[in-house]
Amino acid sequence: MSTTIATRDTFLGSKVAYQVYIRSFQDSDGDGVGDLPGITRRLDYLADLGVDYLWITPFFPSPQRDNGYDVSDYRAIEPNYGTMADFEELSREAAARGIGLMLDMVFNHTSTEHAWFRRALAGDPTYLAYYKFVDAAPDATAANPGEPPTNWESKFGGSAWEYVPTLNKWYLHLFDVTQADLNWDNPQVRAELADVLRFWRSKGVSAFRFDVVNLISKPATWENDYEGDGRRFYSDGPHIHEYLRELVREGGIDGMMTVGEMSSTTLESCIGYTNPANHELGMAFSFHHLKVDYLGGDKWALQDPDIPRLRDILRTWQEAMAAGDGWNALFWSNHDQPRPNSRFGDTERHWYESSTLLPTCTHLLRGTPYIYQGEELGQTITDFTSIDQYRDVESLNYYRILQERGLSADEAFAVVHARSRDDGRTPMAWDGSAHGGFTTGEPWLELTGNYPMVNAEAEMADEHSVRAYFQELIRLRKRLPVIQSGGVRFLDAPSDAVIAYDRTLGDERLVVQCNFSGDEQPALAVGGGERLIGNYDEPCGRETLRPWEAVAYLCRGE
Ligand code: GLC
Repeated sequence: MSTTIATRDTFLGSKVAYQVYIRSFQDSDGDGVGDLPGITRRLDYLADLGVDYLWITPFFPSPQRDNGYDVSDYRAIEPNYGTMADFEELSREAAARGIGLMLDMVFNHTSTEHAWFRRALAGDPTYLAYYKFVDAAPDATAANPGEPPTNWESKFGGSAWEYVPTLNKWYLHLFDVTQADLNWDNPQVRAELADVLRFWRSKGVSAFRFDVVNLISKPATWENDYEGDGRRFYSDGPHIHEYLRELVREGGIDGMMTVGEMSSTTLESCIGYTNPANHELGMAFSFHHLKVDYLGGDKWALQDPDIPRLRDILRTWQEAMAAGDGWNALFWSNHDQPRPNSRFGDTERHWYESSTLLPTCTHLLRGTPYIYQGEELGQTITDFTSIDQYRDVESLNYYRILQERGLSADEAFAVVHARSRDDGRTPMAWDGSAHGGFTTGEPWLELTGNYPMVNAEAEMADEHSVRAYFQELIRLRKRLPVIQSGGVRFLDAPSDAVIAYDRTLGDERLVVQCNFSGDEQPALAVGGGERLIGNYDEPCGRETLRPWEAVAYLCRGE
């Protein structure tokens, strides 16, 4: 039976997902890297928080050039992360607590260590056809390979093409040189990947996240991009809907909890990906709202967040996805983003308010909220002082590239410090003991220095903690149909710093107001209603929003 909009809304609208970045979640064997048994050990913590699904970042065999997003075998477990028996135990224990596992499928590319790519390198035509290989000029040499097929740039810096002298061919890699793009135009590749889904479903997996999945369909001809880095040619590419529908049908995952990571996508495409009538995916991650602090659209150039722009983007995506029967994943944070409270709030003066304002804004919207590990504790960005403390391939590449572009080492460091993916990857702080209880060994990445205060144990003992606030947001979503499936409309707030919207269902109206500034701002008048949640004590009047205040009222029958 196909999913209808009503069943989709009540199913996805009542769920909350939690992202585990396995490397940094919980180490169980002292090697400084998180693992599957570590996750099993923390399931009670997650059940107590109230989440329904765990998205676990890739734990498949991988040379770890991109921390597991460079997969060398889709059907096995990276030994550092555990064994298949560990996975099965995690799956069983999670199910016993009503928690489903969401696996992270990296299907745009494989590691160059994958057996398919190795066979391609050995010249096997079957496997050459698994990737995007293009002939080089007949006189090309390793020393002088000539021009690559296009001028496209890799997302991690440098050309998106690598020359292989032994084949006299180039291969496409939109990410690191060790992440070769698969050729989805080859039906055999599509069949292999659908089979990977069936393999994990047979192990009881009930949800999937698809990594950069809107990049899988490349254009039929290779063209230079004279306006940008090439993304307009391959984002939401020519056969994308057809390939997704086939994957969903052949993998047997229609109507399941699925989410696609959509890079530089459009609203129209995302409606297409997520409208249940199309039988593609459950929901989409889009990133436009997280680029409002990119100067001139450049991630590596800093500016203060543009709040009116943030409001416009949220409004457009919320209202248009609702009108087109699409569905949004709601999030600020993941393993690729700096911690949002440091980025959009003021964690020096208003740490609690900043850390609770952001989830209030997203969790009450139309869609499915995602919490990224440590976000529920208010973890902040790193306090690193040296580039040697960073591990991420993109950060290290850009530290060099920014200096090549003319920035001093200090200037380049300041940008990396604000924008590094490692800002969100520092280990989970479980308690105030050495390394926050994350590991008994040396952590692969240092913890943020505030972990003696900002940690799970301390917050579980405090009923006014950031974590308790997240718990309440989750409870509200489970309790109130207006949050799960109500309509959404953005409201014109009396100040540019305020984002306000309402949700309506039947005779219920939920009004949410968030002050994205450190100054008092005038509030919208909300007649009557019960105060559902807020990050300050109940005020005597309702005319003003205090610094970083977020508040929601529920009105009935008005
Ligand atoms: C996604 C992942 C990111 C990874 C990239 C390439 O954006 O979230 O961590 O580097 O895809 O797989």
